Amino acid sequence: MCYAIPGKVIQIADNIISVDYFGETRRAKNEFLEISVGDYIYAQGGFVVQKIPASEALLSLETWQELFFKLKEIDQELAKQNKGLYQRANFLRQKHLGNACCIHGIIEFSNHCRNDCLYCGIRKSNSKISRYRMDVDEILEACRFAVKELNFKALVLQSGEDLWYTKEKLASIVSRIMKEFPALVILSIGERDLETYKELYQKGARAILMRFETGNPALYERYRPGKILSERLDLIRSLHDIGYLIFTGFLIGLPQQTEQDILNDIKLAGALNSEMFSFGPFIPHPDTPLRDVPKPSLDLALSAIARARIKFPQSRILVTTALETLDNENGARLGLLSGGNSLMINVTPLEYKRCYEIYPDRVGLNEDITRKIESTIKLLQSIGRAPTDLGLYIRGQ
Ligand code: 5AD
Repeated sequence: MCYAIPGKVIQIADNIISVDYFGETRRAKNEFLEISVGDYIYAQGGFVVQKIPASEALLSLETWQELFFKLKEIDQELAKQNKGLYQRANFLRQKHLGNACCIHGIIEFSNHCRNDCLYCGIRKSNSKISRYRMDVDEILEACRFAVKELNFKALVLQSGEDLWYTKEKLASIVSRIMKEFPALVILSIGERDLETYKELYQKGARAILMRFETGNPALYERYRPGKILSERLDLIRSLHDIGYLIFTGFLIGLPQQTEQDILNDIKLAGALNSEMFSFGPFIPHPDTPLRDVPKPSLDLALSAIARARIKFPQSRILVTTALETLDNENGARLGLLSGGNSLMINVTPLEYKRCYEIYPDRVGLNEDITRKIESTIKLLQSIGRAPTDLGLYIRGQ
């Protein structure tokens, strides 16, 4: 099993194509490739990312065929119940998006950060962590490995807010990925000027992961010294206007955050046209001012996922590693059964991964990547999920 099932192009209308996955049709936008009806492609996040030879696609589809229908059945069975918050969310997820689940690879390429967020382990005042920066070639090698050897079709490139990576450096990374090992490129690099983001879009990046952290302005300004919520929100809106898919959300369990704040934050994520919701529990880091704050309960984190699913039934919802850290055994599984339908696997080279300590005890720090992929696939199969693309998300349709 890999993290994407190839689809067959059955219709083309301008740059929107219809793709068939074992009788299910999803749409995808094609901006980069020459494609005709009958071709086989991989899509991610509603974008066509690769065209593949028919012989290769048919081989892959043959291995998938039987399993795909078995997985669908398992998922339908698990989603039959419609009582209580979590089951209702799972029911709606299944009803609107079937058993599709996307898996993104994340590469954490620098833990330098110019910000001093009170909750974050890589804040600039933390002198205890050892800082690293991957150079352009190292980043590209990590991306090549993730796409070519591990088969990822979507890559999140994440760092602290680190201006060492100039517009030119970032542009060369994105354009080389798109030319040499194309994937859906999702940037998570913090607040940069719009000119930089426009250039990166032009080079082929198509999504931004940027949480607003909390939509309560007083809390925002307390936990992100020197920052103003409205500026963050304006930036997210401008990135959407450029054309980027927006992956956004907030931290769950910040001190003084109320249940009403969480409900408002879910609404705000929707109002920001979030293509993918990303909510993670806050995990206190010992070398930050919030070290003594208790972790939120698993229920609080799961209920945010479930509420978001119920409010926005068609949404894509990421199950974050922080949720797995809250509960190593069951976090991911429960997140996926409470409305979640997307996962990230950390493909940062091992020597750097342990230094990207935004919060402590991140799961899987020493785990070999192929083992992690295997266990994730096992988990997905056990709950009947398949890596078909979730398709193009057009609001209101
Ligand atoms: N616990 C959980 N998530 C955190 N982040 C930063 N610090 C923590 C923490 N202590 C999250 C922020 C940021 C993302 C990259 O990591 O929400 O947007």
